[in-house]
Amino acid sequence: MLNIDMPKGKRFVDAAIAAMVMTLLIKRIGVQALAEGYFPSANNIDDNELDMLLKYAALITPMLEYTSTNGYRLAGELQDKHSLFNLEKFLGAYGPVLAAAIIDDCIPAPNTIDDARLASAFSLLAEGRLTWLANALADLPTQDVLEIGCGSAPVLRELAKRSAVCSGWAVDSSENMVKLARHMVRCQGLENQISVHQCSIDDVLSGLHKSILSAKVVVLRGVLNSFCSPTPHAMIPVLQELASRFPNSYIVVSDYYSCLETSSDPDFLPSMTQDIVQLLSGQGIPPSDESLWDSLYREAGLLLCKRVINSTVPGIRQFVDILKTSPVIHS
Ligand SMILES: C[S@@+](CC[C@H](N)C(=O)[O-])C[C@H]1O[C@@H](n2cnc3c(N)ncnc32)[C@H](O)[C@@H]1O
Repeated sequence: MLNIDMPKGKRFVDAAIAAMVMTLLIKRIGVQALAEGYFPSANNIDDNELDMLLKYAALITPMLEYTSTNGYRLAGELQDKHSLFNLEKFLGAYGPVLAAAIIDDCIPAPNTIDDARLASAFSLLAEGRLTWLANALADLPTQDVLEIGCGSAPVLRELAKRSAVCSGWAVDSSENMVKLARHMVRCQGLENQISVHQCSIDDVLSGLHKSILSAKVVVLRGVLNSFCSPTPHAMIPVLQELASRFPNSYIVVSDYYSCLETSSDPDFLPSMTQDIVQLLSGQGIPPSDESLWDSLYREAGLLLCKRVINSTVPGIRQFVDILKTSPVIHS
Protein backbone atom coordinates (compact mmCIF):
# COMPACT_ATOMS: atom_id res chain seq x y z
CA MET A 1 0.00 0.00 0.00
CA LEU A 2 1.26 3.51 -0.80
CA ASN A 3 2.35 5.35 2.32
CA ILE A 4 0.10 8.38 1.90
CA ASP A 5 -0.69 10.86 4.65
CA MET A 6 -4.33 11.22 3.63
CA PRO A 7 -5.39 13.96 6.10
CA LYS A 8 -2.88 16.34 4.62
CA GLY A 9 -4.23 15.74 1.14
CA LYS A 10 -1.15 17.25 -0.45
CA ARG A 11 0.76 13.97 -0.04
CA PHE A 12 -1.96 12.27 -2.03
CA VAL A 13 -1.58 14.83 -4.83
CA ASP A 14 2.21 14.32 -4.77
CA ALA A 15 1.77 10.56 -5.00
CA ALA A 16 -0.71 10.83 -7.89
CA ILE A 17 1.54 13.25 -9.84
CA ALA A 18 4.59 11.09 -9.09
CA ALA A 19 2.76 8.06 -10.50
CA MET A 20 1.99 9.99 -13.67
CA VAL A 21 5.59 11.21 -13.99
CA MET A 22 6.92 7.66 -13.55
CA THR A 23 4.43 6.42 -16.16
CA LEU A 24 5.62 9.11 -18.58
CA LEU A 25 9.28 8.26 -17.95
CA ILE A 26 8.64 4.56 -18.50
CA LYS A 27 6.60 5.26 -21.63
CA ARG A 28 9.24 7.58 -23.11
CA ILE A 29 12.43 5.87 -22.00
CA GLY A 30 11.45 2.20 -21.58
CA VAL A 31 12.17 0.08 -18.52
CA GLN A 32 15.36 -1.47 -19.85
CA ALA A 33 16.98 1.90 -20.49
CA LEU A 34 15.66 3.24 -17.19
CA ALA A 35 17.15 0.22 -15.41
CA GLU A 36 20.51 0.78 -17.08
CA GLY A 37 20.46 4.54 -16.54
CA TYR A 38 21.00 5.09 -20.24
CA PHE A 39 18.50 7.44 -21.86
CA PRO A 40 18.58 7.54 -25.65
CA SER A 41 18.08 11.09 -26.91
CA ALA A 42 15.11 10.19 -29.14
CA ASN A 43 12.56 10.14 -26.33
CA ASN A 44 10.57 13.26 -27.23
CA ILE A 45 11.64 15.14 -24.11
CA ASP A 46 14.05 18.02 -24.07
CA ASP A 47 17.18 17.13 -22.02
CA ASN A 48 16.52 19.82 -19.45
CA GLU A 49 12.89 18.73 -18.97
CA LEU A 50 13.98 15.13 -18.71
CA ASP A 51 16.42 16.06 -16.01
CA MET A 52 13.69 17.81 -14.02
CA LEU A 53 11.31 14.86 -14.37
CA LEU A 54 14.00 12.43 -13.22
CA LYS A 55 14.94 14.67 -10.30
CA TYR A 56 11.32 14.99 -9.15
CA ALA A 57 10.65 11.26 -9.51
CA ALA A 58 13.81 10.37 -7.58
CA LEU A 59 12.89 12.79 -4.79
CA ILE A 60 9.33 11.67 -4.38
CA THR A 61 9.30 7.94 -5.13
CA PRO A 62 11.62 5.15 -4.11
CA MET A 63 11.36 3.87 -7.69
CA LEU A 64 14.25 5.96 -9.00
CA GLU A 65 17.58 6.51 -7.32
CA TYR A 66 20.41 8.91 -8.00
CA THR A 67 24.12 8.35 -7.47
CA SER A 68 26.90 10.61 -8.66
CA THR A 69 28.56 7.66 -10.41
CA ASN A 70 25.50 6.18 -12.13
CA GLY A 71 23.15 9.16 -12.37
CA TYR A 72 19.43 8.33 -12.30
CA ARG A 73 18.28 4.77 -12.66
CA LEU A 74 15.58 2.39 -11.45
CA ALA A 75 16.08 1.40 -7.83
CA GLY A 76 17.99 -1.84 -7.26
CA GLU A 77 14.95 -3.72 -5.96
CA LEU A 78 13.12 -3.05 -9.24
CA GLN A 79 15.91 -4.39 -11.44
CA ASP A 80 14.83 -8.06 -11.41
CA LYS A 81 12.98 -9.40 -14.46
CA HIS A 82 9.59 -9.71 -12.75
CA SER A 83 9.62 -6.08 -11.60
CA LEU A 84 10.69 -4.91 -15.05
CA PHE A 85 7.94 -7.05 -16.58
CA ASN A 86 5.30 -5.50 -14.29
CA LEU A 87 6.49 -1.96 -14.98
CA GLU A 88 6.64 -2.50 -18.74
CA LYS A 89 3.27 -4.28 -18.83
CA PHE A 90 1.22 -2.13 -16.47
CA LEU A 91 2.79 1.27 -17.16
CA GLY A 92 4.37 0.87 -20.63
CA ALA A 93 1.64 -1.19 -22.36
CA TYR A 94 -1.47 -0.33 -20.31
CA GLY A 95 -0.41 3.17 -19.08
CA PRO A 96 -1.59 5.00 -22.22
CA VAL A 97 -4.93 3.16 -22.13
CA LEU A 98 -5.44 4.14 -18.50
CA ALA A 99 -4.50 7.74 -19.34
CA ALA A 100 -6.93 7.69 -22.28
CA ALA A 101 -9.66 6.47 -19.92
CA ILE A 102 -9.08 9.63 -17.87
CA ILE A 103 -8.60 12.06 -20.76
CA ASP A 104 -11.53 10.84 -22.86
CA ASP A 105 -13.62 10.00 -19.80
CA CYS A 106 -14.57 6.65 -21.25
CA ILE A 107 -13.24 3.10 -21.27
CA PRO A 108 -11.14 2.50 -24.41
CA ALA A 109 -11.35 -0.62 -26.57
CA PRO A 110 -8.93 -3.48 -25.78
CA ASN A 111 -7.11 -2.95 -29.08
CA THR A 112 -5.73 0.36 -27.81
CA ILE A 113 -3.28 -1.46 -25.50
CA ASP A 114 0.26 -0.73 -26.77
CA ASP A 115 1.06 -4.13 -28.17
CA ALA A 116 4.70 -3.37 -28.98
CA ARG A 117 5.24 -2.59 -25.29
CA LEU A 118 3.23 -5.66 -24.27
CA ALA A 119 5.54 -7.78 -26.43
CA SER A 120 8.54 -6.04 -24.92
CA ALA A 121 7.18 -6.89 -21.42
CA PHE A 122 6.62 -10.53 -22.35
CA SER A 123 10.11 -10.76 -23.84
CA LEU A 124 11.49 -10.10 -20.33
CA LEU A 125 9.96 -13.33 -19.01
CA ALA A 126 10.18 -15.36 -22.21
CA GLU A 127 13.06 -17.49 -20.98
CA GLY A 128 11.16 -18.58 -17.86
CA ARG A 129 9.82 -22.13 -17.83
CA LEU A 130 6.20 -23.13 -17.38
CA THR A 131 6.91 -26.32 -15.50
CA TRP A 132 3.67 -26.52 -13.49
CA LEU A 133 1.54 -26.07 -16.60
CA ALA A 134 3.47 -28.52 -18.75
CA ASN A 135 3.27 -31.07 -15.89
CA ALA A 136 -0.51 -30.63 -15.85
CA LEU A 137 -0.64 -31.42 -19.59
CA ALA A 138 1.58 -34.51 -19.30
CA ASP A 139 -1.20 -36.97 -20.27
CA LEU A 140 -2.32 -35.12 -23.41
CA PRO A 141 -1.15 -35.77 -26.98
CA THR A 142 1.95 -33.73 -27.78
CA GLN A 143 1.58 -33.70 -31.54
CA ASP A 144 -0.54 -31.07 -33.29
CA VAL A 145 -0.77 -28.64 -30.40
CA LEU A 146 -2.21 -25.21 -31.19
CA GLU A 147 -1.35 -22.28 -28.90
CA ILE A 148 -3.73 -19.37 -29.58
CA GLY A 149 -2.78 -15.85 -28.43
CA CYS A 150 0.63 -17.40 -27.94
CA GLY A 151 2.68 -14.34 -26.94
CA SER A 152 6.21 -15.77 -26.72
CA ALA A 153 4.68 -19.30 -27.08
CA PRO A 154 5.73 -20.39 -23.59
CA VAL A 155 3.48 -23.49 -23.46
CA LEU A 156 4.46 -24.98 -26.81
CA ARG A 157 8.14 -24.21 -26.27
CA GLU A 158 8.08 -25.95 -22.90
CA LEU A 159 6.28 -28.99 -24.35
CA ALA A 160 8.64 -29.09 -27.34
CA LYS A 161 11.71 -28.89 -25.09
CA ARG A 162 10.40 -31.85 -23.11
CA SER A 163 9.60 -34.07 -26.07
CA ALA A 164 11.19 -34.17 -29.52
CA VAL A 165 7.95 -35.56 -30.99
CA CYS A 166 5.96 -32.54 -29.81
CA SER A 167 4.86 -30.32 -32.68
CA GLY A 168 2.39 -27.56 -33.32
CA TRP A 169 1.39 -24.07 -34.29
CA ALA A 170 1.76 -20.90 -32.25
CA VAL A 171 -0.53 -18.08 -33.39
CA ASP A 172 -1.11 -14.53 -32.24
CA SER A 173 -2.91 -11.54 -33.74
CA SER A 174 -0.05 -9.22 -32.79
CA GLU A 175 2.84 -8.84 -35.22
CA ASN A 176 5.15 -7.95 -32.32
CA MET A 177 4.22 -11.08 -30.38
CA VAL A 178 4.71 -13.19 -33.50
CA LYS A 179 8.21 -11.72 -33.92
CA LEU A 180 8.94 -12.51 -30.26
CA ALA A 181 7.63 -16.09 -30.55
CA ARG A 182 9.67 -16.68 -33.75
CA HIS A 183 12.77 -15.27 -32.06
CA MET A 184 12.36 -17.54 -29.02
CA VAL A 185 11.61 -20.62 -31.15
CA ARG A 186 14.74 -19.92 -33.23
CA CYS A 187 16.94 -19.26 -30.18
CA GLN A 188 15.87 -22.57 -28.65
CA GLY A 189 16.35 -24.51 -31.91
CA LEU A 190 12.67 -25.54 -32.05
CA GLU A 191 11.91 -24.43 -35.65
CA ASN A 192 11.33 -28.02 -36.77
CA GLN A 193 8.70 -28.51 -34.10
CA ILE A 194 6.86 -25.19 -33.87
CA SER A 195 5.63 -22.96 -36.66
CA VAL A 196 4.52 -19.43 -35.77
CA HIS A 197 1.78 -17.53 -37.62
CA GLN A 198 0.20 -14.13 -37.32
CA CYS A 199 -3.44 -15.02 -37.02
CA SER A 200 -6.32 -14.03 -34.75
CA ILE A 201 -8.67 -16.35 -32.93
CA ASP A 202 -11.34 -15.39 -35.50
CA ASP A 203 -8.97 -16.41 -38.32
CA VAL A 204 -8.47 -19.79 -36.62
CA LEU A 205 -12.21 -20.27 -36.20
CA SER A 206 -12.93 -19.26 -39.79
CA GLY A 207 -10.59 -22.00 -40.99
CA LEU A 208 -8.06 -19.59 -42.54
CA HIS A 209 -5.29 -22.16 -42.06
CA LYS A 210 -6.86 -25.54 -42.84
CA SER A 211 -4.03 -27.58 -41.32
CA ILE A 212 -4.48 -25.87 -37.96
CA LEU A 213 -7.98 -27.33 -37.71
CA SER A 214 -6.38 -30.75 -37.20
CA ALA A 215 -5.01 -29.64 -33.81
CA LYS A 216 -5.53 -32.26 -31.11
CA VAL A 217 -4.86 -29.85 -28.25
CA VAL A 218 -5.85 -26.18 -28.32
CA VAL A 219 -4.24 -23.99 -25.65
CA LEU A 220 -5.44 -20.51 -24.61
CA ARG A 221 -3.31 -19.02 -21.86
CA GLY A 222 -4.18 -15.52 -20.65
CA VAL A 223 -6.39 -14.96 -23.70
CA LEU A 224 -9.99 -15.53 -22.57
CA ASN A 225 -9.61 -12.86 -19.89
CA SER A 226 -9.81 -10.29 -22.68
CA PHE A 227 -13.29 -11.56 -23.63
CA CYS A 228 -14.99 -10.62 -20.35
CA SER A 229 -16.72 -7.35 -21.16
CA PRO A 230 -19.42 -6.51 -20.21
CA THR A 231 -19.47 -9.83 -18.32
CA PRO A 232 -17.49 -13.08 -18.61
CA HIS A 233 -20.48 -14.52 -20.51
CA ALA A 234 -18.97 -12.74 -23.52
CA MET A 235 -16.47 -15.62 -23.78
CA ILE A 236 -19.20 -18.25 -24.28
CA PRO A 237 -19.53 -17.76 -28.07
CA VAL A 238 -15.72 -18.11 -28.40
CA LEU A 239 -15.74 -21.33 -26.37
CA GLN A 240 -18.73 -22.64 -28.36
CA GLU A 241 -16.96 -21.95 -31.65
CA LEU A 242 -13.81 -23.65 -30.38
CA ALA A 243 -15.87 -26.65 -29.29
CA SER A 244 -17.50 -26.94 -32.70
CA ARG A 245 -14.29 -26.35 -34.71
CA PHE A 246 -12.26 -28.79 -32.60
CA PRO A 247 -14.91 -31.39 -31.62
CA ASN A 248 -12.47 -34.20 -30.80
CA SER A 249 -9.68 -32.11 -29.32
CA TYR A 250 -8.74 -31.05 -25.83
CA ILE A 251 -9.30 -27.37 -25.12
CA VAL A 252 -6.84 -26.11 -22.51
CA VAL A 253 -7.70 -22.86 -20.71
CA SER A 254 -5.13 -21.29 -18.43
CA ASP A 255 -5.98 -18.01 -16.74
CA TYR A 256 -6.35 -16.36 -13.33
CA TYR A 257 -9.15 -15.93 -10.80
CA SER A 258 -10.18 -12.28 -10.40
CA CYS A 259 -10.47 -10.71 -6.93
CA LEU A 260 -11.72 -7.17 -7.28
CA GLU A 261 -15.41 -7.99 -6.98
CA THR A 262 -15.13 -10.62 -4.29
CA SER A 263 -12.21 -9.85 -1.99
CA SER A 264 -10.64 -6.98 -0.12
CA ASP A 265 -7.69 -9.00 1.11
CA PRO A 266 -4.58 -6.85 0.46
CA ASP A 267 -2.60 -10.04 -0.12
CA PHE A 268 -4.42 -10.24 -3.45
CA LEU A 269 -3.50 -6.75 -4.65
CA PRO A 270 -1.53 -8.17 -7.63
CA SER A 271 -4.76 -9.77 -8.93
CA MET A 272 -6.73 -6.62 -8.20
CA THR A 273 -4.24 -4.52 -10.17
CA GLN A 274 -4.61 -6.91 -13.09
CA ASP A 275 -8.42 -6.70 -12.67
CA ILE A 276 -8.44 -2.90 -12.64
CA VAL A 277 -6.37 -2.60 -15.81
CA GLN A 278 -8.59 -5.24 -17.42
CA LEU A 279 -11.61 -3.14 -16.47
CA LEU A 280 -10.13 0.17 -17.65
CA SER A 281 -8.91 -1.28 -20.92
CA GLY A 282 -12.31 -2.63 -21.89
CA GLN A 283 -11.45 -6.31 -21.48
CA GLY A 284 -13.67 -6.92 -18.45
CA ILE A 285 -12.89 -9.00 -15.38
CA PRO A 286 -12.66 -12.80 -15.55
CA PRO A 287 -14.63 -15.11 -13.20
CA SER A 288 -13.47 -15.14 -9.59
CA ASP A 289 -13.74 -18.83 -8.84
CA GLU A 290 -13.84 -22.35 -10.17
CA SER A 291 -17.64 -22.69 -10.12
CA LEU A 292 -18.13 -19.57 -12.26
CA TRP A 293 -15.64 -20.82 -14.86
CA ASP A 294 -17.39 -24.23 -14.74
CA SER A 295 -20.77 -22.68 -15.49
CA LEU A 296 -19.34 -20.90 -18.56
CA TYR A 297 -17.81 -24.17 -19.81
CA ARG A 298 -21.14 -25.96 -19.31
CA GLU A 299 -23.02 -23.28 -21.24
CA ALA A 300 -20.49 -23.61 -24.05
CA GLY A 301 -20.93 -27.40 -24.13
CA LEU A 302 -17.51 -28.21 -22.70
CA LEU A 303 -16.73 -30.76 -19.97
CA LEU A 304 -13.99 -30.26 -17.41
CA CYS A 305 -11.57 -33.23 -17.39
CA LYS A 306 -8.84 -31.91 -15.11
CA ARG A 307 -7.95 -28.75 -13.18
CA VAL A 308 -4.69 -27.66 -11.57
CA ILE A 309 -4.49 -24.46 -9.52
CA ASN A 310 -1.14 -22.77 -9.06
CA SER A 311 -0.57 -20.17 -6.36
CA THR A 312 3.20 -19.87 -6.52
CA VAL A 313 3.06 -16.30 -7.84
CA PRO A 314 2.16 -14.26 -4.72
CA GLY A 315 -1.28 -12.64 -4.83
CA ILE A 316 -2.44 -14.39 -8.01
CA ARG A 317 -4.25 -17.69 -8.35
CA GLN A 318 -3.55 -19.14 -11.77
CA PHE A 319 -5.14 -22.30 -13.07
CA VAL A 320 -5.17 -24.65 -15.99
CA ASP A 321 -8.37 -26.42 -17.00
CA ILE A 322 -8.38 -29.29 -19.50
CA LEU A 323 -11.72 -29.49 -21.31
CA LYS A 324 -13.43 -31.73 -23.83
CA THR A 325 -16.51 -31.27 -25.93
CA SER A 326 -19.57 -32.73 -24.17
CA PRO A 327 -20.79 -35.93 -25.80
CA VAL A 328 -24.05 -35.42 -27.71
CA ILE A 329 -26.90 -37.16 -25.87
CA HIS A 330 -29.32 -38.87 -28.31
CA SER A 331 -32.88 -39.27 -27.00
C1 LIG B 1 -1.77 -11.82 -21.81
S1 LIG B 1 -1.02 -12.20 -23.34
C2 LIG B 1 -0.64 -13.92 -23.07
C3 LIG B 1 0.45 -14.43 -23.97
C4 LIG B 1 0.78 -15.90 -23.82
N1 LIG B 1 -0.37 -16.73 -24.08
C5 LIG B 1 1.37 -16.21 -22.46
O1 LIG B 1 0.73 -16.96 -21.73
O2 LIG B 1 2.46 -15.71 -22.14
C6 LIG B 1 -2.42 -12.30 -24.42
C7 LIG B 1 -2.03 -12.55 -25.85
O3 LIG B 1 -3.22 -12.81 -26.59
C8 LIG B 1 -3.09 -12.14 -27.83
N2 LIG B 1 -4.46 -11.93 -28.34
C9 LIG B 1 -5.38 -11.11 -27.80
N3 LIG B 1 -6.52 -11.18 -28.52
C10 LIG B 1 -6.29 -12.06 -29.51
C11 LIG B 1 -7.09 -12.56 -30.59
N4 LIG B 1 -8.35 -12.16 -30.77
N5 LIG B 1 -6.54 -13.46 -31.43
C12 LIG B 1 -5.27 -13.88 -31.25
N6 LIG B 1 -4.46 -13.43 -30.27
C13 LIG B 1 -4.97 -12.54 -29.40
C14 LIG B 1 -2.32 -10.89 -27.53
O4 LIG B 1 -1.70 -10.35 -28.68
C15 LIG B 1 -1.32 -11.40 -26.51
O5 LIG B 1 -0.16 -11.88 -27.12
